Amino acid sequence: MKTIILGIESSCDETSASICIDGKVMNNIIATQSIHKEYGGVVPELASRAHQKNIVLVVESALKGAQVKFSDLSAISVTQGPGLLGALMVGYSYAKTLAFALNIPIINVNHMKAHILAHFIETPVPIFPFLCLTVSGGHTQIVKVNSAIDMVVLGSTIDDAVGEAFDKGAKLLGFSYPGGPQIDKYAVSGNPDRFPFSESQIKDLNFSFSGIKTSLLYFLRDHLKNNPDFIKENLEDICASYQKHLISMLMKKLVLAAEKTRIRQIAIAGGVAANKELRTQLKQLSQKHQWMSYIPEFEYCTDNAAMVAISGHLYFQNKSFGQLTDAPQPRMSF
Ligand code: KG4
Ligand code: ZN
Repeated sequence: MKTIILGIESSCDETSASICIDGKVMNNIIATQSIHKEYGGVVPELASRAHQKNIVLVVESALKGAQVKFSDLSAISVTQGPGLLGALMVGYSYAKTLAFALNIPIINVNHMKAHILAHFIETPVPIFPFLCLTVSGGHTQIVKVNSAIDMVVLGSTIDDAVGEAFDKGAKLLGFSYPGGPQIDKYAVSGNPDRFPFSESQIKDLNFSFSGIKTSLLYFLRDHLKNNPDFIKENLEDICASYQKHLISMLMKKLVLAAEKTRIRQIAIAGGVAANKELRTQLKQLSQKHQWMSYIPEFEYCTDNAAMVAISGHLYFQNKSFGQLTDAPQPRMSF
């Protein structure tokens, strides 16, 4: 009998559903909420309402696209946390209700672990144990992945996530939310060595990104005093320079983690893993240090349900099922 998993993701501002049949992801339907653009960040209440509007259509579209009926499903895997409570509740309540009605198991998925398990959607898959630099809007972590279930955080940010540093920096430059992809775009034609930004010096495998964000703020304030068009005239170079230092901080810790653990299977995951410069740098470092590196396809870097569906498939093998009395966990830890 086939194992057919419906994956549902609603932790932030994407409503997404995906069908996975016997470990093969069939589709990845995503409704992106553009309503947050004008507010400079995700507005939780608006996100919940948009999830409510989208969830039924997104799930129906995933089922239809994979030619699967509700009655064919083996289990429903759903993001339990971390994320925005109201947003999580929409996907989670929907998943629980459906699991109850169909009398099939529910599988609780940690969003950050799902970003890592996105590496099992396509081949080649990383070999355990591997290191994963997990970089998103809310998290920045280096994780030792011993198995699909057993993951250990070796280091994480003590303040802002790197995605936040991208987004807050982008906001200072006048970009709408999310600004990370726009910094990435403008940086391509800029000079990364034009402006220096100080990198934080944090011990061990932890990160800090609040200092560099503040240094961009003061840098812009000082230059704008003399030239109100400073940003417009130097946008590409500012983006390239700021991005260079963000990526450099990530890469230094990744090299340190690989040295400390002697692991040479290295992966990246999460929204910031879509960044072109990060992807290029990882490839270069892999050659230098003889790492085997794993970079997800763009569509599996930012939030998506395919990663939740594949996680569900992997957990299904271990019969790691949740209970209908479980609840979303906005601060779910590893
Ligand atoms: O994983 P994700 O989609 O959502 C969270 O779980 O947070 O990550 C979103 C983050 C945002 O901060 C966004 O600006 C950033 O990923 N991001 C990028 C790029 N694409 C998305 N940052 C830099 N360059 C990109 N190309
Ligand atoms: Zn995410």
